[in-house]
Amino acid sequence: MNIDKIMLRYGIIGRDPKLLLALSKAVQVAPTDLSILITGESGVGKDIFSRLIHDGSDRSAKKGRLVSVNCGAIPEGTIESELFGHVKGAFTGADKDRKGYFEEADGGTIFLDEVGELPLQIQVKLLRVLENGEIIPVGSSTSRKVDVRVVAATNVDLLAAIHSGRFREDLYYRLNQISINIPPLRERKDDIPLLFRKFSSDVAERYKMSPIFLSEDGKEYIMKYPWYGNVRELKNITEQIAVIEESRTITRAILQNYLNYVPEETLPALATGGQNSPISDRELLLKALTMGQMINEMRGEINDLRNAVSHLAASIPGGMVNNANLGSSEHLMSVASNHRQFGEQSMANADPLQFAGAQPPMEIRRPQFSDNVIDRQWPPDEEFQPSVIIDDEPLALEEREKCAIEKALKRHHGNRRLAAEELRISQRTLYRKLNEYGLQ
Ligand SMILES: Nc1ncnc2c1ncn2[C@@H]1O[C@H](COP(=O)(O)OP(=O)(O)O)[C@@H](O)[C@H]1O
Ligand SMILES: [Mg+2]
Repeated sequence: MNIDKIMLRYGIIGRDPKLLLALSKAVQVAPTDLSILITGESGVGKDIFSRLIHDGSDRSAKKGRLVSVNCGAIPEGTIESELFGHVKGAFTGADKDRKGYFEEADGGTIFLDEVGELPLQIQVKLLRVLENGEIIPVGSSTSRKVDVRVVAATNVDLLAAIHSGRFREDLYYRLNQISINIPPLRERKDDIPLLFRKFSSDVAERYKMSPIFLSEDGKEYIMKYPWYGNVRELKNITEQIAVIEESRTITRAILQNYLNYVPEETLPALATGGQNSPISDRELLLKALTMGQMINEMRGEINDLRNAVSHLAASIPGGMVNNANLGSSEHLMSVASNHRQFGEQSMANADPLQFAGAQPPMEIRRPQFSDNVIDRQWPPDEEFQPSVIIDDEPLALEEREKCAIEKALKRHHGNRRLAAEELRISQRTLYRKLNEYGLQ
C-alpha cells in the first residue's frame, strides 16, 4: 500500500516532506505490535494516524477493535475502572461487573489519546498491564490476560513532564518504542492552501454550492497565520467562510474578519525583544493575543455556524448530501500530483526509525520492513473496512474525478467554461477528460 493510496483513503492532504515521512513511518510500523507514541499539537491529525496504524495491522484484519480513549476527558476517580473494568460491589453504584477499555480492545488496539494527562497512580498500573499483559479489574483479586496493542498520543512534551515529575519515565519508554511526530501546520506552510482547497471543495460538494478560492493576498495571509489550532482550526474556518460568505473569492480582508490576526511585519516595532532572544516579547504577546481572541471568537462563531448550517440543511431539498470524505476532483488531482516532488528515491532512502524528532527506540530489535510486509498486512482495497466509519467508501481516482466533472457540469448547466473554472482545470483539460470518460 503506497502513501498516495493511504492518503486518498483517509482524506489526508499534504506534500510536506516531514508529514510524508511521518506517514511512511506509520505505514511501515502499522503491521507490527510495537507501541507507538504519536506526538504533535492539537489538531495536527493524530487521530487519523491512530486509525491508519490500526487498519494496517493484522489485528484489524482479524476483526480486533480500535478503542479510542481520551485520557484527559475521564474524571480521575473513575479512570481506573474505565480502563481496567470493575467487579460487582467494587464501589457504591457498581451493581454489576463491567469490562474496561482494555478488555474491549482485546485482540485489537487501544488508542490512549492525551496520555500525558493520566494521573501518576494510573501510570503505574498501566505500565504493569503493558509489561505483563494482565489487567486487574477494580475490586477484583484476580488478573485477566489481554492482548492489546497500544498507540498513545500526546500534545504535551512528555520529556518535560518527566522532568517535572508528572510522567513516569519507565512508562514513557514503554509507550515510545516508536515515535511519530506530526509537525504543526505553521511548519508546513505549503500545505495550508492545499488543505483550504480540500475543505472548500468538501463543503461545496456537501451543500451543493460553488467552492471558495483564495485570492493572492488571501493565500499569502493564511500562510502567515500561525494556526495554533492546526488543521482542525483551518477546517473550521474554511467551512465557516464557505457557508457564510457570499463571495467565492476569499481575500485577505475577508479572512481578517475570521482570524483577527495582523501579520508581524505590519505591526509597529516594539523596543523589547530582539534578534538575539529566541522568542521575542512581541511574538509572545502576539501569540497570547491571537490565542485568546481565537478561543473567544471560535466559541461564538461555532454557534453561528451551527445555526447557519442547520438553516442551510433545512433549505436543501432532501437534507444534507452524504459527502465522501475524500474531496472532489481538484483535491484528487492535487493528491495525484502531490507526491511526485517527494520522489520515490527520497522515500526509499529515508530511515523511518531515524527522522528528526524521533526518540531512539529502547532495546528494540529493528523490524525488517519491506513493501511485502506492508502489502501482506494491509487489506486489499476491495476488502478494506476502515476501523472508524469514514463517510463513504473511497472510489477509484478516475471514478471520483469523473463523478466530480459530471457534478460540476450539472451545477453549471453544461457550461464547460464555468465547470472548468470550478474544477480549477483548463478548458482543454476538461475537454480531454470528457473524451477520456466518454462524457460527451
Ligand atoms: N493532513 C490532513 N489532511 C486532511 N485533513 C486533516 C489532516 N490532518 C488533520 N485533518 C483533519 O483535521 C481534524 C483534526 O485532526 P485530528 O486527527 O482529530 O487531530 P488531533 O487528534 O491531532 O487533535 C480532523 O477533522 C482531521 O480529519
Ligand atoms: Mg485527537
